[in-house]
This record gives sequence, C-alpha cells and structure tokens, in this order.
Amino acid sequence: ESKGPRERAGAEFVVVANRLPVDLERTEDGNQRWTQSPGGLVSALEPFLRSRDGAWVGWPGVPDVDVDEFSDDGLVLHPVRLSSAEVRDYYEGFSNATLWPLYHDVVARPIFDRSWWDAYVRVNQRFAEAAAAVAGEGATVWVQDYQLQLVPTMLRELRPDLRIGFFLHIPFPPVELFMQLPWRAEIVRGLIGADLVGFHRPGGAQNFLWLARQLIGLEPSRGSVGVRSRPGMVQVDDRTVRVGAFPISIDAAGLDKLSRTRSVVDRAAQVREELGSPKKILLGVDRLDYTKGIDLRLQAFHELLQEGRVEPDDVTFIQLATPSRERVEHYQQMRADIEQIVGRINGEFGRVGHTVLHYLHQSIDRSELAALFQAADVMVVTPLRDGMNLVCKEYVAARHELGGALLLSEFAGAAAELSSAFLVNPHDLDGVKNALEQAIKLDPAEGRRRMRALRRQVLTHDVDRWARSFLEALGAGTGS
Ligand code: ADP
Ligand code: G6P
Repeated sequence: ESKGPRERAGAEFVVVANRLPVDLERTEDGNQRWTQSPGGLVSALEPFLRSRDGAWVGWPGVPDVDVDEFSDDGLVLHPVRLSSAEVRDYYEGFSNATLWPLYHDVVARPIFDRSWWDAYVRVNQRFAEAAAAVAGEGATVWVQDYQLQLVPTMLRELRPDLRIGFFLHIPFPPVELFMQLPWRAEIVRGLIGADLVGFHRPGGAQNFLWLARQLIGLEPSRGSVGVRSRPGMVQVDDRTVRVGAFPISIDAAGLDKLSRTRSVVDRAAQVREELGSPKKILLGVDRLDYTKGIDLRLQAFHELLQEGRVEPDDVTFIQLATPSRERVEHYQQMRADIEQIVGRINGEFGRVGHTVLHYLHQSIDRSELAALFQAADVMVVTPLRDGMNLVCKEYVAARHELGGALLLSEFAGAAAELSSAFLVNPHDLDGVKNALEQAIKLDPAEGRRRMRALRRQVLTHDVDRWARSFLEALGAGTGS
C-alpha cells in the first residue's frame, strides 16, 4: 500500500467520532455521493476542524462499505468500516437504544442487551486502532461522544505518547440513572484514559467525578467545577486527569453573515408570502427524536387553537424534522405519534388555501434554514432533555435585525446561557401554552430587548471559543 507524506508523518490533530462529517449515499442510478451528516456534533465541529489541518476518523454512515482514506478540502477523512450486524448492535442497539435514552433522563426505556455491549466493546477497539494508525508521534486526539466512551483508555494502551481529550455531546445523567447500567464501571474506566474529559455542564462533570470515586475507587478533587475554568482533577497512576465543563456552540459569525445576505433576506420574505402572509410564523427544527418534545409543542399549539387563544387564520406553524435512526423502534413509534397529531391539527383547523401546520420530514440546506429562521416570529424549542441544543443558538445568530422570539425548554443545556428566552418546563403543558401565547403576542420593543441580550451571549460564545477553551485545558494549544 502506498502512503503519501502525511500518512508517513501521521496527523498532529485527530478527531475521532462515530460519524464522518459526511455521509455516503447511494443514488438510484447506482452511483454514490457524499452529503453532510445530520446532528449537532458535525454542525459544531466541522467549521472548526476545516480551519486547521487535521484528520477525522469516523464511520461513513452506511454498513459494509470499504472506503479508502481521502482528503476533502484540506481535511483528511479516515473511514471506519462497520458491518450490518455492528450497525444493528453497536450503533442502533447499544448507542441509541441503551445509552441515548439512559443519558436523556430515561425519557424512553433503555434496553440492556449483553450482545450489544460486546459489539460496543469490539467497535470501540476498532476506532481506537484506527486513531492509533492515523495519529503522528505525540499528536492530540480528540474523541467525541457517547458512542466511543471506551476509546480513550483503549487508545492510551496502544499509544501512550498521545494527548487524548474526550468530549460528551449529550447530557451526562444523574448518578442514580447511570448506576442502572450493567457496564457502568467499564464506561468510567474507558473515559478515564483521557487527559481531559469534557461535558457541557458542571453538573455532568461533578457526576462523573463522584462515579470515579464510587465505582473505581479513585480520589477526585472536591471543589466545585466551573464553566471553562476550575476543572476537577483525579490522579490515575502517574497521570492527572482533568474533568471540566465546556458548553458547545455554533459558528455564530458565519450564520450572522449568511442571514444578512440579499438572497436569504429575500427568501425569508418570499416564504411568508408563499404561506399566505400569516400574522405570525412559528417554527420548530429538530432531528426527529423523542427527546426533542415535538409532540408536546404540537399539543400546546393544538390546545391554543381549540381554546380560541390563537386564530388559525393568523398563524402558520412550520415543523422541520430530519429523519433520524429510523430502524430503532422508539423512533418509529414516535414518528407515527407525531404524524397523527399533525394530521389531526390540519384536519381540524386547516382550510382550502391555508394549511395551519406544515410538517417536513426532510433535511434542508443551510441558506434555506437561515431564511426560515429569519421568517419565524417564534422559534419553538422544547426538548425534554438536550445536552446543549444548537438550533436555538442558530436562530439567535440569524436575527441580526432583533426580530423574533425564542421559546426554550429549561432542560436544554443552552437554557443556562439564554436566560432572556421564554423559558418553559416542557412537562408543564399549561406553562408551555402560556409562554407560547405570550411569545406570539409579544410587544416588539420587549422582543428586541430580549433578542439583543440573547445575541450578546451567542455571538461572544461561539464554537471557536468552545474548542479553544477545551484544547487549552487539554494543554494542546490551538494551533491557529
Ligand atoms: P442534535 O445534535 O440532537 O440533532 P442540535 O440542536 O444540537 O441537536 O443540532 C442539530 C443540528 O442539525 C443543527 O445544526 C440544525 O440546524 C441541524 N438541523 C436540524 N434539523 C434540520 C433540518 N430539517 N434541516 C437541516 N438542518 C437541520
Ligand atoms: C447528536 C449526537 C451525535 C450524533 C447526532 C446525529 O448530535 O450527539 O453524536 O451524530 O446526534 O445522530 P446520528 O445517530 O444520525 O449520528
């Protein structure tokens, strides 16, 4: 096998994530093409990584394909192969039917299956080996998210020379829930192989430190963990592992700029016209996931219509839902439930020439999304639990003229930063209805005041700041 100069030297900076930033898609004519992968991890990390030289190790999104390492716009992509059985057991099974619901407050019931765990261990080992092969001497390797929690220790065993960071993009659960996991000590041991273990919130870091003491007998520091500062410390043999909180964000300046372009501004006006110029446009944008609370926001909207608190002729609700994890049963059930509510609302309140609720089960491109953010008078973000939630930050970044209102769940990590939003407890349906009605009827001056405060936070705390603060705490510098 011939190797180019980079491969021989090895990459100095390597990201390891379950997915590559692009997904391989097979088209109907038998060809293939690459499209952007779904979800917040890729949205956040891709712009950052493209701004520096590095390699990205990940799965190309389809089973049973062998793809050689290739270079995409300066970024080296190193594909990891998963078989169909591994996609079923490691990805759909342990990652998305065990860990995902367990870490999201058991919103759905996690399934504990021993053969899934075995696949998780095997696949994590494969990712560790791929990272070990790609990284140069003394390189920094940044491992991402819940699918790869065993990689830090596995990688350290293969390559003690590396500097290893780990970041969890989803919530780290309360210890009482984590303790349900039959493989709880193995997970903590897997993570502790990193030099820095990062979470969105200090609470997650503190939970992890407590578990390191209880489950594997380490003696962590006792002080409280700060945001981007005062990480917890724990001594593991001759290494000091840091444990900290680093709230992720977006490429705020990029989206701000995009949303000011003529074409986006014009498209936003056109959208409103195409919808029949309703007085108010409400918007939801999510992966179709049961943690996002799509059903309950639609129920709140439905009840406001039924009670006559909102006039169907005055409003249009647009709900975009990216297809996600479609073979996992929890997701199939939820999709059926949501599509039933959509049908009911339109059946009762639509009329010929005016659809009260537009539901799109599809992914749309960035400038169309920016135009929808621009057009929306109320952005409705109601997850039951969300590690951060980037959509709410994107909405804020897209509102340079200070229009619009943000309704946001207290249970999204972003709520800690976005206190000028209309914050709601998504379990309290009456509370959601009241806030939604308030946001719809918001006085424009009050709206501008809130949006100004939200933008101050989002524009000064972007993804670059997140990555820099993490890499500085890792002692890796930021290289640019
Ligand atoms: P998660 O990572 O759980 O999917 P986030 O809110 O953190 O949730 O990130 C979702 C990302 O996916 C955002 O960047 C958002 O703009 C994007 N996104 C979500 N739904 C769509 C859609 N229908 N079309 C295009 N992009 C979408
Ligand atoms: C969330 C997770 C990511 C994941 C993304 C999309 O953002 O934190 O790790 O990649 O959702 O989900 P998927 O299962 O399609 O990769």
